[in-house]
Amino acid sequence: MNQNLLKVLFVADVVGKPGCDILEEILPTLIDKHKADFVVANGENANNGKGITDKQAERFFKLGVDVITGGNHTWENWKLKELFDKYSNILRPANYPEKNVGNGYKSIELKNGITVTVINLQGRTFMTPINCPFQTVDKILAEIEEISPLIIVDFHAEATAEKIALGWYLDGRVSAVLGTHTHVQTADERILPKGTGYITDLGMTGPHDSVIGMDINTALHRFIKQTPRKFTMATDNKRFNAAFLEIETTTKKCISINRINLPEGL
Ligand SMILES: [Fe+2]
Ligand SMILES: [Fe+2]
Repeated sequence: MNQNLLKVLFVADVVGKPGCDILEEILPTLIDKHKADFVVANGENANNGKGITDKQAERFFKLGVDVITGGNHTWENWKLKELFDKYSNILRPANYPEKNVGNGYKSIELKNGITVTVINLQGRTFMTPINCPFQTVDKILAEIEEISPLIIVDFHAEATAEKIALGWYLDGRVSAVLGTHTHVQTADERILPKGTGYITDLGMTGPHDSVIGMDINTALHRFIKQTPRKFTMATDNKRFNAAFLEIETTTKKCISINRINLPEGL
């Protein structure tokens, strides 16, 4: 581990068994290749699109994931309280109303003495009207100020504009703002002027011959007939989506951000 540089891999929403399988195929090799010090994966869709189970989380951790972030689908695991009680490094968005189970951020001290805090937030535009992500992140930053960590934000949101706005809001205050939820990787990765690594959406680690993970015919039925149909997961064209970032540990500025979009069977 380089004392001056933290190398971070952040994996896009892992969707269903196809996503978990390609995560297992690719993640350990990538960690080796990039000498990644810290790995985050969004796990809101690991269990057939609906949250993540105990077993799946164990699988993520065995593959080298340090923190699992969540989103709107996290809540569809009905054994969520047990899961959160067992693992403090499985997050759900911090800005849900109070009295919900689980944590929205987690600080971890690494072997070299650097503390990394991962904050999970969710957008409100075209989504459930939860608490304000901007005000929530302000509160969290004040709470963790004392430990002066290197901060990585997963902003789980639908609207491009809301994600870009949060990027600007947090520029220079956190090391990275990485978007999740839409399952489509955007080509706008950049380092903002005050040193925050940014991308609107990391994409999807899962089946890409699909409609954001859903079986194509099922999705077409829903759109064309405007009536419900049982959710069916797609299976084909598995791809691994992520971003790799290098962050200076002294200044906490991001010095590089690169998108990763790999097929299975490389
Ligand atoms: Fe998702
Ligand atoms: Fe989502």
